[in-house]
Amino acid sequence: MKKILPLNHGLRGTIKIPGDKSISHRSVILSSLATTPVEIENFLSGADCLSTVECMKSLGAKIVRTGENILVTGNGLHGLREPENVLDAGNSGTTLRLLMGLCAPQKFLTTFTGDNSLRRRPMARVIKPLTMTGAKIFGRNDNQSLPITILPAEKNLRGIFYKMPVASAQVKSAILLSGLFAETPTTVIEPSPSRDHTEKMLTAFGARIEHRGNAIRIFPAENLTAPERIFVAGDISSAAYWIVLASLLDDSDVTIESVGVNETRTGIIDVLQQMGASIELINQRTSSGEKLADVHVVSSKLYGVEFGGEMIPRLIDEIPALAVAAAFATGTTIIRDVAELRVKETDRLAAIVDEFNKISPETFTATDDSLIIKGGREKFFAECQTRADHRMAMSLAIFGAAAQGVSIDDETCVDISYPNFFEELN
Ligand code: S3P
Repeated sequence: MKKILPLNHGLRGTIKIPGDKSISHRSVILSSLATTPVEIENFLSGADCLSTVECMKSLGAKIVRTGENILVTGNGLHGLREPENVLDAGNSGTTLRLLMGLCAPQKFLTTFTGDNSLRRRPMARVIKPLTMTGAKIFGRNDNQSLPITILPAEKNLRGIFYKMPVASAQVKSAILLSGLFAETPTTVIEPSPSRDHTEKMLTAFGARIEHRGNAIRIFPAENLTAPERIFVAGDISSAAYWIVLASLLDDSDVTIESVGVNETRTGIIDVLQQMGASIELINQRTSSGEKLADVHVVSSKLYGVEFGGEMIPRLIDEIPALAVAAAFATGTTIIRDVAELRVKETDRLAAIVDEFNKISPETFTATDDSLIIKGGREKFFAECQTRADHRMAMSLAIFGAAAQGVSIDDETCVDISYPNFFEELN
């Protein structure tokens, strides 16, 4: 249980946020497929990325801490070893789906499991395309959920042409990773662009990838050539809490340093700017193939907006934080095309409606695939449940801090993506 008091002053100063969760996962996975050691700087030591580290160790990579960094030494693209035990992805959909793509073409058996939340999440979306390559993958019951077993591939798998029904970077990445081992090139087409960290990092490791519109084609590879060092950009999904809070509180002036501003991730900044937020990207630069900037935010008055479609994959993880911003805005905000929120760490549409309305009654309503927020209603102190979802916990915390305070049942779930969130908030 944790109680967050209302903040009666603005946020001022400079914040450094932890490394990007998506990039951290990919940095360990690809480094484990090289033959030369890779030092990863600003790696996110959150529980999700540590699940990936443990799985890659079980697949034969050597991964050690070197002070603040981690050092990964792999056995080459075709040098993965059969794990001696079940691979546990914990709470992490990214670990599970990317590693299913990596393990599907291997000549050994792999079984995956995960925590209560991950065991309920849909995996058919990744089993289906991987099965088209010839891989033999079996999940539990009709949903093909965890535990999932991948049988040893008897021969090299086929390259596929796959049109994805939903924009999902995890599914896209699973298909691309499996494509590295196929007989022929693999093409995946997204309905709208999702985060492209896998493509960027595969290119940095020398894989051949071509883009045409929303189609991405990957060619089979003999080996990967690793950079000596990868710098992981700060996580814009973690920065989002401070961007929203600084916008809402009077007298705020905050700079968040070294934030990843890859265009497939900056929807949160675009939408907040449309709402009237004062956000500026300064000191823009590129590191390890990803764009970085310092994000400068000052207090502002916000107005409701309406958006959906291609914007959604660019801010999917920031919708709970954005919903907090919308609750303080003048007018109504309508967020369309967000059915995917129902299959995140928890059903986030239901969680937002049930828990956020405790703080600001009659503010949040949802349909099957949209969220409507009537801004400007009265806010109260409330006791809320995080549903073991890290992003719900942090969004509730900033909601309470900007309103009349909040108490949350479980603060430890922030470990997944932002272990020192509450120290930073203090
Ligand atoms: C992620 C992709 C997104 C996102 C998740 C991380 C990734 O999920 O919500 O937190 O690292 O590829 P989907 O692929 O399900 O859209």
